[in-house]
Amino acid sequence: MTLERHDRVRAVQWDDAAGELVLLDQRRLPVEVVHKRCRTAEAVAEAIGAMVVRGAPAIGIAAAYGAVLAARAGTLAEGLEMLAAARPTAVNLGWAVARMRDRAGAGADVDGLLEEARTIHAEDLAANRRMGEVGAAYLGDGCGVLTHCNTGSLATAGFGTALGVIRAGWAAGRVARVFATETRPWLQGARLTAWELLADDIPVDVIADGAAAALMQSGGVQWLVVGADRVTANGDVANKIGTYALALAARAHGVRVMVAIPSSTLDFATASGADIPIEYRSADEVLGFGGQHIAAKGTGAWNPVFDVTPAALVDVLVTERGAVEAPNRERLRRLGHAAGGDVDGSSSNKETA
Ligand code: MRU
Repeated sequence: MTLERHDRVRAVQWDDAAGELVLLDQRRLPVEVVHKRCRTAEAVAEAIGAMVVRGAPAIGIAAAYGAVLAARAGTLAEGLEMLAAARPTAVNLGWAVARMRDRAGAGADVDGLLEEARTIHAEDLAANRRMGEVGAAYLGDGCGVLTHCNTGSLATAGFGTALGVIRAGWAAGRVARVFATETRPWLQGARLTAWELLADDIPVDVIADGAAAALMQSGGVQWLVVGADRVTANGDVANKIGTYALALAARAHGVRVMVAIPSSTLDFATASGADIPIEYRSADEVLGFGGQHIAAKGTGAWNPVFDVTPAALVDVLVTERGAVEAPNRERLRRLGHAAGGDVDGSSSNKETA
């Protein structure tokens, strides 16, 4: 079984001939496979806000190509600002925008910016493949894994972060069974992770979010493997709403918790999870389903779409630079220094627009 067989889906593509960004419309999956073409930075920012493209690394990559479209239109400064503001929680978005701004500041023209966007895109795929190997090495033979949201090819340049670890573990014969939470309210697990894994010949069982603790209690899983939208200097993890509850349940049942991220998700400039901007989305996402209202008219809703898992609940943080067990401020600093990264917080992964 080759690894390529387990990595066929692509969410973000640049059409060189047309000079357009082509996004797989994730609002329509799995019912329809349709693509949305973006010709302006504004269209890219709208697509990010509306979740046509989603997942921290994928929105960073889309924003990088959005910057190319803005530069081509002669509106780079406004374009970068609009793109950085499209969603608040994933630090990869501000990171990619800052990288494009720096490249423009160093004199890059439209072609130079396109080259930078392609580099960001290619680096993400390479990072995912590497962290797949690093993370899979932790999994015991024949283990069951539970994942949350969608962290796969749909959320990245390809292969995925947490789902990349699971792909690599499956290809190596280490992972015997994969469970995915449905991930209410947007159903990234039931709609996207299940579709993507089946497309790549990896069987998966979807569980209701509320079934996770019972699954752990039954002994069906040994690992919870998730991604993140931002990991702060002390190792706190912002990820899809429900991750915190899963990590608490995992600790109570002796299930180990792995967080897999590219280093573009590390935010050394933010001290702890308390300082992470959490996105709140429309009440309709909670009160309705498939465009159909399901709660009584007049019902209110509280809809934070990310939560913060304290570092103390994480057993291992996996990056393309290596893994950090029981992550804390000091260990993350060492990881940053060892890789020659910026860990003083002055110009690290923080929105700057
Ligand atoms: O709201 P979404 O679907 O963009 O949320 C995505 C997540 O929470 C993912 O777990 C995270 O971005 C990591 S994706 C590799």
